[in-house]
Amino acid sequence: MTEASVVSSEPPNQHGYRPFTLGGFRFERDEHFVHVQWPTGRHVAAAEPFLKALMRDVAWNFFYGTVNFDSVIGTLNHYGDVDLFAGRFNEEYRKAELDHSENFPHDEIKATFQAMLDDWVNEDFDPFAAPMETGSAYGEKSGSNAPAVTRTRVTAKRMVGLPNDEPLRSDESGYPVNRAFADVDQTEPKVEVNEGYENDVSAFNFFAYLSRSDVTWNPSVVSVCRESLLCPTTEEFILPIIHGNDRVEWFVQLSDEIIWEVEDRETGKPRAKVVMKAGDCAAMPADIRHQGYSPKRSMLLVWENNSADLPGQIARGEAPTVPVTF
Ligand code: PHB
Ligand code: FE
Repeated sequence: MTEASVVSSEPPNQHGYRPFTLGGFRFERDEHFVHVQWPTGRHVAAAEPFLKALMRDVAWNFFYGTVNFDSVIGTLNHYGDVDLFAGRFNEEYRKAELDHSENFPHDEIKATFQAMLDDWVNEDFDPFAAPMETGSAYGEKSGSNAPAVTRTRVTAKRMVGLPNDEPLRSDESGYPVNRAFADVDQTEPKVEVNEGYENDVSAFNFFAYLSRSDVTWNPSVVSVCRESLLCPTTEEFILPIIHGNDRVEWFVQLSDEIIWEVEDRETGKPRAKVVMKAGDCAAMPADIRHQGYSPKRSMLLVWENNSADLPGQIARGEAPTVPVTF
């Protein structure tokens, strides 16, 4: 299916924004809000948090498990096709039978979401930027921001530090040290490699590398070892999605502090509040949803197990939802 054939071609509304239809779902935006309608209900969300969530859903290819934009709207990744839902993970919507879910081929929902971002993100707004580093998402349509809305996560071609890793590690790369990390030591380690091993042995200053991140809440991938992905990220303000895990993931707080609200994945009932300070390490269970708050820009290392077998094993009870039982 080509992108053009699946994306709504409706004309812009009185605010300059095109409406979009995906199955039984209809999306419209005005100066302040995004309005979502489905056969059994409707929802209204502020444009800025909605676009920030939509941006991550697209850039991460629907991520692991569930991406809740808020307590009502979200996507559930089946890795090939994707459910778009309203109220699916909201106990009260379920009880009232207002919830609705439809399954779409990955490429169809992605093309529609990408077209929505292209049309609804104005020139001054960068959905990946910290609040103090972007213009406003609100108002009548004014221009577009293609470089921002087509950005994908940085992925090292090899372990960072090795030749041809394509790193972002100098001012020449166009990524200056972020204002919040002006105190981060930029000295690179000196490695003396035996002849013949120059292509295989290296080290780099991980903190210096991360201090140049120009985005927030966007894990990059700095090393891949079979299914083990090390995904560091810089965080400021609020994680724009409420992530429902489908596997255990580990967090190492590398600097500053993040407060995590942890809820039951299905119902949204509160389970824990986790305050992580620099040096703290936590495992997030496979049956929760969570959202982080970072008062100051901080560095977080997310460690993911990328195995495609895990969600099924956990759903069938063959693998535990926690990495250790005390
Ligand atoms: C997560 O939901 O696990 C997550 C997502 C993005 C981040 C950090 C953590 O930047
Ligand atoms: Fe998560």
